[in-house]
Amino acid sequence: MTFKDEQGIYTNFKEKMTYGDYLDLDSILNSQNRLSDHHDEMLFIIIHQVSELWMKLTLHELRAAIEAIQEESYQPAFKMLARVSNIQNQIIQAWDVLATMTPSEYLGFRDQLGQASGFQSYQYRMVEFALGYKTDHVLKIYEKDPELKAELKEAYEAPGLYDVAIQALANEGFAIDEDVLNRDLTKTYEANKSVEEAWIQVYRHTDRYWDLYQLAEKLVDIEDWMQQWRFRHMKTVERIIGHKQGTGGSSGVGYLKKVLDHYFFPELWGIRTKL
Ligand code: HEM
Repeated sequence: MTFKDEQGIYTNFKEKMTYGDYLDLDSILNSQNRLSDHHDEMLFIIIHQVSELWMKLTLHELRAAIEAIQEESYQPAFKMLARVSNIQNQIIQAWDVLATMTPSEYLGFRDQLGQASGFQSYQYRMVEFALGYKTDHVLKIYEKDPELKAELKEAYEAPGLYDVAIQALANEGFAIDEDVLNRDLTKTYEANKSVEEAWIQVYRHTDRYWDLYQLAEKLVDIEDWMQQWRFRHMKTVERIIGHKQGTGGSSGVGYLKKVLDHYFFPELWGIRTKL
C-alpha cells in the first residue's frame, strides 16, 4: 500500500527501499572514526574518503576506457576519459577545503595517525598503474591481505592506458618497435623514438588520424590534471607541515616535489617542442 502525504510525497517505506538503503548510507556515514577529539580530524578523514571514492570511479572509467581502446571503440573511450578529467578537476578543488586547516590544527591529531599515510593508498597506486607508472612497494605494504594483494598484482601486470594507445598506433600501420609492443608491463614505461615519430605524424596529419589525435589530447588532459593534483597536494602539505618528514616515512615535500618530475606519456609532451 502506497501512502502519500498531503504534498504528494511518498512516506511509507516499511517494505520499500529508501534513498539511504540504496546508497548504503549507514555504512558510509558511520565510517568517520576519529581517533582524537580534535574538531579538524573530521575534515581530514572526510577529505581522504571523498578522494578515495572519486579514485574508485576514476579506476572504473580508466579500465573501461582501456578495454574500449583495445576494441577500437574510440568514441565511448573518449567519453570515459573526459569524465576522468572532470573528476580530476573536481578533486583538485578539495585542496582548497583542506588548506583551511592550519599547522596548529593538524598537530592536534597528527600523532594519532602513526605511520598511516596516503602513500599507502592502493587505489592511487592502481590509478598510477593504469597510467603506466609501476612501483611495487604497495604490493609489499598489503602483503597481509592476500585478496587485495592479488587485485593489486593483477593491476600491476595489466597494460596501461598508454600501452593500448601505442598498440592503436601500431594497428594504424605505424612502425612501432617490437620491444615496446612486447614490453615488460611491470616496468614503468620509458620514452621511445618510434612512438615519438608516430605521434609526430598524427599531429602533422590530424585529418587523417583524427581518432588518434583526439586520443592523444585526452591523454595529455589526464596527465596535465594529474600533475596539477600532485602540485596542489605538495603545496598544501608544505603549507601544513613545512619540510617535516611524512607519516609514511618519506622526506615529505622533497619526495612530493620529486614525483612531479615523472612523465606518464613522455612523447606526447616531447613532440610539442619538435612540431
Ligand atoms: C594534512 C593533509 C596531508 C598531509 C600533511 C599529507 C602529507 C603527505 C606526505 C608527507 C606524503 C609523502 C609520503 C609520506 O612520507 O607520508 C604524502 C603522500 C601521499 N598523500 Fe598526502 N597528505 C595530506 C593529505 C592528503 C589527501 C587529502 C590525500 C587524498 C587522498 C592524500 C594522498 C596522498 C597520496 C596518494 C600520496 C602518495 C603520493 C606519491 O607517492 O606520489 N594526501 N602525503
